[in-house]
Amino acid sequence: MRRKLAAGNWKMNGLGAALDEATSLAESHANTATEAATEIVLCPPATLVREMARRCQGTAVVVGGQDCHEAASGAHTGDISAEMLADAGAKYVILGHSERRAAYGESSDLVRHKARRAWQAGLRTIICIGESEDQRQTGKTLDVIGEQLAESVPHNASGETLVIAYEPIWAIGTGRIPTLDDIGEVHEFIRAQLKARFGGDAGDAVRLLYGGSMKPDNAAEIVRVANVDGGLVGGASLKAADFGRIIDAING
Ligand code: 13P
Repeated sequence: MRRKLAAGNWKMNGLGAALDEATSLAESHANTATEAATEIVLCPPATLVREMARRCQGTAVVVGGQDCHEAASGAHTGDISAEMLADAGAKYVILGHSERRAAYGESSDLVRHKARRAWQAGLRTIICIGESEDQRQTGKTLDVIGEQLAESVPHNASGETLVIAYEPIWAIGTGRIPTLDDIGEVHEFIRAQLKARFGGDAGDAVRLLYGGSMKPDNAAEIVRVANVDGGLVGGASLKAADFGRIIDAING
């Protein structure tokens, strides 16, 4: 019912030559541009969005941004708007990544405003939430997740506009992942919260990704967990060969 999704977050990695990785992924997965197959999204740095979208047009690879401003335009030096991303060919935008929450003090409140603007620009949002190691060890995970989810997601969310990525901060870039039971517990909780807030059908339609050290050799077991609809992949999405194996594992 929910289409599987593999999203790659390149973070601040990738010069022009890296566009070949996107082209290569599009070529190796040319036969997966169907509704039945895992949807593939690559989120390169903003400098590469337009050219990647151009090269991947008509292929299975869809392009997204990594952040956007909450305003449509204006005096915001260094920022990029959702309209600009959409104009460059992006279909998605990642919002509220823990690296931005930590480095720039982005609050869930701000993330919600950004999401509303992104929807107005016609972008789908991948909103990230996740607990710190300390929060997990002190039993606060579900409280933190519940609060971030409630405050980061605007009203009127639907499966068309919203994807949630559960990314435990301590699992990002560390090679460590939660137990499959722990992933399942958090995803089940997120699903229940979404259904309670947006109604059963809408809550059921929102795709939930796991993110944090997802690799070719652990993707299959992670996506077998109930309510895991795919992955948000950092380091392992930089190379088409690795990301391709993850996509194949998600495809099942
Ligand atoms: P890694 O896959 O490199 O752990 O990064 C995960 C992430 O932060 C994706 O947004």
